[in-house]
Amino acid sequence: SGANSAASPKRAFWSSRMAFILAATGSAVGLGNVWKFPYITGENGGGAFVLVYLLCIAIVGIPIMMAEVLIGRRGGRSPISSMGILCQRDKLHSNWRWLAGIGVLASFLILSFYSVIGGWALSYVGTAGSGELSGQSSETIGAIFSGLLADPGTLLIWHTLFMALTMLVVARGLRGGLERAVTILMPALFVLLLLLVGYAMTTGHFGQALSFLFQPDFSKLTTEGILVALGHAFFTLSLGMGVMMAYGSYLPKGVSIARTSMLVSVMDTGVALLAGLAIFPLVFANGLEPGAGPGLIFQTLPLAFAQMPFGSLFGTLFFVLLVFAAWTSAISLLEPLVEWLEERRGMNRMISTLGAGIAAWLLGIGSILSLNEWSDFAPLGMFAIFEGKTIFDLLDYLTANILLPLGGLLVAVFVGWFMARQALENELSMGRRSFALWYGVLRYVTPVAVAIVFIYNLV
Ligand code: PHE
Ligand code: NA
Repeated sequence: SGANSAASPKRAFWSSRMAFILAATGSAVGLGNVWKFPYITGENGGGAFVLVYLLCIAIVGIPIMMAEVLIGRRGGRSPISSMGILCQRDKLHSNWRWLAGIGVLASFLILSFYSVIGGWALSYVGTAGSGELSGQSSETIGAIFSGLLADPGTLLIWHTLFMALTMLVVARGLRGGLERAVTILMPALFVLLLLLVGYAMTTGHFGQALSFLFQPDFSKLTTEGILVALGHAFFTLSLGMGVMMAYGSYLPKGVSIARTSMLVSVMDTGVALLAGLAIFPLVFANGLEPGAGPGLIFQTLPLAFAQMPFGSLFGTLFFVLLVFAAWTSAISLLEPLVEWLEERRGMNRMISTLGAGIAAWLLGIGSILSLNEWSDFAPLGMFAIFEGKTIFDLLDYLTANILLPLGGLLVAVFVGWFMARQALENELSMGRRSFALWYGVLRYVTPVAVAIVFIYNLV
């Protein structure tokens, strides 16, 4: 490859920058944007929550994404090895390696329920495709969704299919082809969301949705809401678990880490806001509850497909694209664990993928049952902060609100306080002012913000 890059430095440079952007966007844009962002925004009262979320993206998410990419590029290996290399080089304690270990655990736990929701999206490809939505009322559409949740067998089939698709790619290393598909399918998802926003404008409730999303009413913001916003900033940007470290190792020296990180974050935020703009007009126009919870998009978007011209076609296309976006994210969730098993346990790729995938699939059954048979079962209900939380709620809370922010905090402290400043300057090669801004934010603002939100909520 040395000869290659000497022959055509421009092309090699472009394609590996592109490879990073595609992989990072594929991981970032997923169910977090289209499924989770709208429903947590609805549950947390809208505007003020959105504002806090955007602030978290800007002052916590982007600086940490830069830090993770930097670690990956400097180490040039898988997250655990990269951390090991950096610790050795800078004579730091090798326990910092475990930071990547938290990430492996978090990605395993997330994958287990992510696949269940990916299964919902898969099943809606069929629901929209069969034409059974067209002309239906919001009651019927609500009933279709409740019917799905009440049926563990059907949920299991779709969860199994989604997990199998994910394992297939990870086992065979088809990543390259899939990432190239991102160049077509992500813009297509974007266009379809724009179309849905266009449809939402015709409902007569667009203005109400705009003020719900963008007029902050701080009386509706709770401390838990702030924690959820912070946690979601990590979740949606795939931070705090080493995914961006892994992809950072693709990024050639000389490409601006700041600019590429910002590009990925802006695209991710754009998709989330578009999803919100498509969904909330439908919520208000049909008298639905903004705080309806995890089913929100499955109770609202099908209404648009029921009413708009060519609704079955657009509906099918939309859910196919959503499944694809979820798939590329799920792959990035399975990958760290598989890599860890290969590196640490010396297993081959096929066995590691089978082991990790089946374990996550098994845990996912707990989330499926949380939606029906075990909906009243709160395993850690004796602790006040976990009161009434099902297995699914617990996994979501533990990962997004605890493990990811904790991982991010440690990344900020490691890069901001332990790595040599000179190394960071060389790696980022930004202007002096922008470097100082990033460094200051990473050293002081990010850790303090995460720590305050943590302490408020847990104590
Ligand atoms: N960022 C993905 C999403 O928004 C989820 C994810 C989280 C993927 C963490 C990888 C790592 O859907
Ligand atoms: Na996202």
